[in-house]
Amino acid sequence: MSFESPVHVPVLLEEVLRWLAVRPDGVYVDATAGLGGHTAAIARRLTTGVVIANDCDAESLELARRNTQPWAERIRFRQGWFSTLPEACRTMGFPQVDGLLADLGPSFAQLTSGRRGFSFAADGPLDMRFDPSTGLTASQWLDRLSYGELVGLLVEAGEERRLAERIVRAILRARPLRSTRELARVVEEAVPRRGRLHPATRTFMALRRLVNREQQELAALLEAAPALVRPGGRVVIIAFMSTEDRQVKRSFQEWIRQGRAVRLHKHVVRPAPEEVRANPAARSARLRAVEIR
Ligand SMILES: C[S@@+](CC[C@H](N)C(=O)[O-])C[C@H]1O[C@@H](n2cnc3c(N)ncnc32)[C@H](O)[C@@H]1O
Repeated sequence: MSFESPVHVPVLLEEVLRWLAVRPDGVYVDATAGLGGHTAAIARRLTTGVVIANDCDAESLELARRNTQPWAERIRFRQGWFSTLPEACRTMGFPQVDGLLADLGPSFAQLTSGRRGFSFAADGPLDMRFDPSTGLTASQWLDRLSYGELVGLLVEAGEERRLAERIVRAILRARPLRSTRELARVVEEAVPRRGRLHPATRTFMALRRLVNREQQELAALLEAAPALVRPGGRVVIIAFMSTEDRQVKRSFQEWIRQGRAVRLHKHVVRPAPEEVRANPAARSARLRAVEIR
């Protein structure tokens, strides 16, 4: 897939560039390189500057490398998790940077590849690891968790409130579950369809967040950001779930209260209707940005 491919459109692209306020000689971190869409757009604006393109998924990083080839000399690729990003930047000779971007969640390539097991739309092993070389798969987690743990997970990480107990009872009856379609079918049979959303959507999100320690990883990134970004630099984060957006909002509010950051916008930034029309996947994206003091 090339960067020009119509299927890959980086979300809130204009807004990211606007709020990151890219300087041609600056140093930027794209913590979630994915397919390289935002990385390429930042790199295009640089002259002597550098963008560190980070992703914990080696396959994504390879796609990002291919899709950003024309700007390769301005990009340093790094494979690793958010939690080790500040150390990696230091090792690369950038103890502080001028801007940090994170576009959370799975990429289009991860979501649409059955092999990676992120989505019920394509059948595949129930995996969901951003980095398939480490950790337990979603299927292995489902084998291990108790009724109470699973209900807690669906409610907290999946924003699945009323139906969590019913879904978990069905999962416990059906496990072991080894494929995405199996899990989707079990949830679909246990609970009715609600509107446009597939009944298994929240279950899949909850599992993905658990498998990849997404809450802890975002917490680590938010903890490190005010020291990693130099005064005057920006932190820009795009979230797709309200729980994640709340986590970002609370951290930003806390930094502002402590005098470590300056508020840049009053309301959360959402995609324009034209962007949602052209790319329905962008509809739940919420961007927040602050300037570090
Ligand atoms: C939504 S995609 C980014 C898409 C990208 N902005 C683009 O324009 O192509 C998010 C990427 O972040 C990576 N990722 C998610 N959590 C991560 C973490 N804790 N550490 C490192 N990378 C992570 C995923 O592997 C995925 O490739």
